[in-house]
Amino acid sequence: MHTQILPATQAAIGETSLAEAARILKGGGIVALPTETVYGLAASALDERAVAKIFAAKGRPQDNPLIVHIAQPSMLDALAREVPKSAWQLAAAFWPGPLTMVLKKKQCVPDIVSAGLDTVGIRLPDHPVMRAVIERSQTPLAAPSANRSGAPSPTCANDCIEDLSGRVDAIVDGGACPVGVESTVVSLVGDTPRLLRPGAVTIEDLERVLGPVELDSAVTGEADPCNEASAPGMKYRHYAPEATVRLLLGDSEKFCKYVNEHAGPGVMALCFMGEEQKLLPPALSLGDEQDFDTIARRLFGALRELDRKGAKTVYAHCPPPTGVGLAIYNRLIRAAAFDVITL
Ligand code: TXA
Ligand code: MG
Repeated sequence: MHTQILPATQAAIGETSLAEAARILKGGGIVALPTETVYGLAASALDERAVAKIFAAKGRPQDNPLIVHIAQPSMLDALAREVPKSAWQLAAAFWPGPLTMVLKKKQCVPDIVSAGLDTVGIRLPDHPVMRAVIERSQTPLAAPSANRSGAPSPTCANDCIEDLSGRVDAIVDGGACPVGVESTVVSLVGDTPRLLRPGAVTIEDLERVLGPVELDSAVTGEADPCNEASAPGMKYRHYAPEATVRLLLGDSEKFCKYVNEHAGPGVMALCFMGEEQKLLPPALSLGDEQDFDTIARRLFGALRELDRKGAKTVYAHCPPPTGVGLAIYNRLIRAAAFDVITL
């Protein structure tokens, strides 16, 4: 399959690209599109055959449901059979933005989208390209992250090209994603709202609007495969580069000491600003250790970069799991296949 690369970083060229992307989607094709979180691989959410192409292109397990992207909050009613007050409150507070709500689905949402669950994840993204393409294709778009299943999520068009060239109809280049980690996923189907995946909208942000929010055990630990309430995607080794990643928790001094003691061929470090100079192995800095937004934005690109540099073993310094740090921690423990050492 030939994959078109459609530039959309400048408004003037973007017009043609947006029209072409919408044309492909209306015709049942699949297109990688930028969102504020990560790039998504989109198909019309109401077209089963188109959605099946997403699973094939990504090599995604069939039991992992997709998020449906909408352009207006009013589209919630078309997809969800019960929209509780809490959903409208969250929409008013955080949409457009990096928040996905899990609600009871209507029948029009094909089973392949929800992976057979009775629920559907819905999000209104805050990216002009994604929103324009939803509007123009006149359909909600199902879109998982546009990476090969298991790989780090793509945060620029080149990442999508690396993973999906020849496997999708088009990739729209809208530049780098400003958030860098996938949306927060919160389930509103139980008695108490439940955080299934942490993101840039933090649990503290959600609690300010909703009151108490439960933290699913899969957020900080390995998902229990028997627990249907968890986001199914959380149970897989995920976000992982080719290199083996080991996560280290502890202060800068202990981190540098551990890494230097384990230096050797193929060993590299993923660290915070200022630590590069103290480390013997080659190191990539994610930014100031207090600056979670920057760390989140750079995280997936850095994991891919370490592979390009030929890393075999990566020691990663992990931020504490508070605020947006919880999203970073959640992605890193999966990249490390739960190999975490407290120093
Ligand atoms: O920021 C994002 O959310 C990006 C962009 C493209 O919008 N999308 C994304 O999709 O990260 P994906 O498929 O890579 O991750 C979706 C996550 C998975 O962990 C999946 O299991 C969970 O959301 N999920 C989707 N629908 C669900 C449902 N009905 N119930 C529980 N979890 C659900
Ligand atoms: Mg994904």
